[in-house]
Amino acid sequence: MKEGRQTGIVREKTQLTADVFSLVIEAESAAAAARPGQFFMVYSRDCSRLLGRPISLCETDRKAGTIRMVFRTVGAGTKEFAGLKEGEEISLMGPLGNGYPLEDPEREGTTLLMGGGIGIPPLVQLAKELPGEKSILVGYRDAQTFLTEELAACGGLRIASEDGSVGTKGNVMDLIRPDETIARIFACGPSPMLKAIQKWALEAGIPAWLSLEERMACGVGACLACTVKTPEIDGHTHVHNKRVCKDGPVFAAQEVIL
Ligand code: FES
Repeated sequence: MKEGRQTGIVREKTQLTADVFSLVIEAESAAAAARPGQFFMVYSRDCSRLLGRPISLCETDRKAGTIRMVFRTVGAGTKEFAGLKEGEEISLMGPLGNGYPLEDPEREGTTLLMGGGIGIPPLVQLAKELPGEKSILVGYRDAQTFLTEELAACGGLRIASEDGSVGTKGNVMDLIRPDETIARIFACGPSPMLKAIQKWALEAGIPAWLSLEERMACGVGACLACTVKTPEIDGHTHVHNKRVCKDGPVFAAQEVIL
């Protein structure tokens, strides 16, 4: 983890859908350190918006010294990032957080990578680095898909959409095949999706890791804006809470109450 702001240079900007954008940023030390499932705090140039926006790592190219972030424009900060031009500077901090565990699974079978909406981008670097058999299950709202080529290059890709305009009509849960042997699940997406995966995985006894997309403020464990309830009392703070930015964003399914 690298705390402290650094300046990156936008090397490539692409609009992937009406409101999803991709930035490739030159930031050598960040690219060298970043691991799948980690995130960056990205800062606005407008000083009235001092807080950063958490954006997860989509890809890192350690040779080229670049990181890629794919994000949805949801507010003034992300709209500003989407308006950046190639060659412009961007202020960021990271990589932050723990990332996904990449060790071999303890069980036989396929690793399922499950992503919904703007929880899909982190799966790209994860799919690239994760050894062994894997299937990638992604859910979109509609036909405005993104990153499908990158994901399809890493493993068997299955797509669902809420309106049925592409792939299976439904969500990522509808893409699980009843006959497949699942070694473990890595997931990232909105809370209802993670909740459904958590319930299903705990009942089925399948190890699962969930990356929580919480609203963050400081990104480094200081403000407690991102806490999530846990069944266990935290040894450090003596409360039933964990900080998504510092203790996560990736948690084992049994570690958090969603
Ligand atoms: Fe401040 Fe997590 S965002 S503690």
